[in-house]
Amino acid sequence: MNKRLSVRDIRRKKLGDKNQEPISSLVCYTAQMARLINDHVDIILVGDSMGMTIYGYENTLSVTLDMMINHGAAVVRSTNQPHIVVDMPFGSYEESPEVAFRSASRIMRETGAQSVKLEGGEEFAETIHFLSQRGIPIMGHIGLMPQRIQTLGGFFTQGKTDKESSRLMNDAKSISQAGAFSMVIEAIPEEVASDITQSIEVPTIGIGAGRNCDGQILVSHDILNLYGAFTPKFVKKYGNIDENIVNAVKDYSQEVKKKKFPTKDNIFTIKK
Ligand code: KIV
Repeated sequence: MNKRLSVRDIRRKKLGDKNQEPISSLVCYTAQMARLINDHVDIILVGDSMGMTIYGYENTLSVTLDMMINHGAAVVRSTNQPHIVVDMPFGSYEESPEVAFRSASRIMRETGAQSVKLEGGEEFAETIHFLSQRGIPIMGHIGLMPQRIQTLGGFFTQGKTDKESSRLMNDAKSISQAGAFSMVIEAIPEEVASDITQSIEVPTIGIGAGRNCDGQILVSHDILNLYGAFTPKFVKKYGNIDENIVNAVKDYSQEVKKKKFPTKDNIFTIKK
């Protein structure tokens, strides 16, 4: 039975009192991983970080709409519980609200996801309003926006000065008033994230944004140690799959070379 959390359920998870549980979310891109995490998180984001973690690019800019749709559909097929959000990739929404609608409607139609996420603050309020008025639920994304890597010059913490933090507050208010049902806030000081969380009516989902957001999100490849290239300070590793894979592959290869594999348990014979 399909028990997915709806946009309304997620809105209701805004932490009103201390007894409410924060939203638990993970970024995940494949059917295999999605099956494993199905029962354990409220939201799965099919994130464009797949460009780096599974496609080996240096950043997320090369990810296409077709890639997002293929992975989004695989994750939807393999789950029945969490709310599935699919990232809108770089170049698929910035030009105009109409272009954004065409891309977002393809994602919704071809994946079966419940919502889409786009990066941007006040400058995207009009687009967010346009889409959400036309049946496309939008999760916002402010703070560190990886699709702006070339203008930022690196993956740096945002909102460290008064000017930057008031710009972030303004972005959060603008996109929530425009209709975003929740927003990711990435790599900003805890104090700034707390102020934002208290000042807007929709849930904030933090990644490197401290302890007081309405929910948390991390990348499954990061928490499992499946992506060795770079680990941000805000990641906690809960597993070490990299090491397990390397050890298993080493054992296999050694056994092949020493003729210990295959054994008689792994072969077919002709019955006499
Ligand atoms: O693509 C992604 O992994 C994301 C997270 C950083 C929230 O957008």
